[in-house]
Amino acid sequence: MKLKKGIPLIDQHDKNGLWGGKFGGNFIPETLKKPVEDLNILFEKLRKDKNFIKERDYYFKNWINTPTPFIKLENITKHLGGAQIWAKVVSELNGGAHKILNSTVHCLIAKRAGRKYIVGDTGAGYAGKMLSMSAKKFGLKCKIFMGAKDIKRQKPNVDAMKKNGAEIFPVYTGSQTLVDAVSECMRYWVANNDTTHLCVGSTVGPAVFIKICGWSTSQISRELKVQIKEEFGEIPSKLKLINCVGGGSSSYGFWNEFIDYDKKQIELIGVEAGGPKKSKKHAAPLTNNSKMGVLHGSMQYVIQNSDGQIEETESISAGLDYSGVSALHCFLKDVGRARYTSATDEEALEAYKLITKYENLNPSLEPSHAFSEACKIAPRLSNDTVIIVNSCGDAQKDRDILKKRLGRYK
Ligand SMILES: Cc1ncc(COP(=O)(O)O)c(C=O)c1O
Repeated sequence: MKLKKGIPLIDQHDKNGLWGGKFGGNFIPETLKKPVEDLNILFEKLRKDKNFIKERDYYFKNWINTPTPFIKLENITKHLGGAQIWAKVVSELNGGAHKILNSTVHCLIAKRAGRKYIVGDTGAGYAGKMLSMSAKKFGLKCKIFMGAKDIKRQKPNVDAMKKNGAEIFPVYTGSQTLVDAVSECMRYWVANNDTTHLCVGSTVGPAVFIKICGWSTSQISRELKVQIKEEFGEIPSKLKLINCVGGGSSSYGFWNEFIDYDKKQIELIGVEAGGPKKSKKHAAPLTNNSKMGVLHGSMQYVIQNSDGQIEETESISAGLDYSGVSALHCFLKDVGRARYTSATDEEALEAYKLITKYENLNPSLEPSHAFSEACKIAPRLSNDTVIIVNSCGDAQKDRDILKKRLGRYK
């Protein structure tokens, strides 16, 4: 299994949609084979269509707000000593997180496919909020599946979805979190795919959904590469790109342009959810060497019990609280291109405290996991090392949890 240079990772799969011959694929019921294949044909056509690209770029720039800022976190760098810490402030996108990139592309595809309805899953509520925003913008009727536990803990995003006119379906099965929401959403699509387009909220699901999402979030690294060159004149010789990993869409988008570089020059670091310190129900399949299994139509490393049943996870961060992980990241782990680690709930909260104390930045609990790793390694590194953290979400949605756990928000 090897990475190919000059080809985007989303395209390095075989004819069965498998990366490295074993991750991803299309493990779906017979009734979904045709709609998935039709979507694949449409997407492959649209991504080569100049008018479609023009339309995407127009909305990315004029509606979503790209490019997002790339800033040096001078105070925290000074406080910690060692490496320079920078942030790509993706949370400045319209709606407050990277999920708007994926939902916008899906709505543009749905319009081309002549669909009137769009359905999606959400964990932290950002994928749902963004899908409801995009659906409203492009005149589609929107339905969102969300775990009942997540509905309670991510109220600001639930309110936003309702305000945008989305219909929310609470999911009461299993852990009542993202993993169950995705399952229910796919089940709904099986029965309604003739009228409805499915937007999977991360780089997970059958291969075509991994590709559409990765193609959409790659905007982050496309603009970051330009910004790095503007700032430093060239790509620094010691660069570390740190991103949290739930399903894996923000991290893939943040890394895509840099995967071909030597790992000694650019280290890619993914941070999974370690969960509460005393609990074993982490959401970190890559860090903890989980076994392979099929989840949501895709072969991947997945948290499971000895009978192969998907295990429940627990994390303070709804966006990272997922038993599986993208086939793209399974591949990057196995070829040794990216390093994966985890941060506990407590470490993410500490990082949030530190970042908000020293900087005018308000990272949600997901990127706070990535900041935790940055703060851990920076003091041990020289000041010609550049660490960039993808601050991919705004903490406004976490207001209630932060107030409860830290006694303050911001
Ligand atoms: C702000 C934010 N960051 C990260 C994630 C994790 O998802 P992914 O790994 O697909 O970026 C989520 C998921 O909801 C999110 O809302």
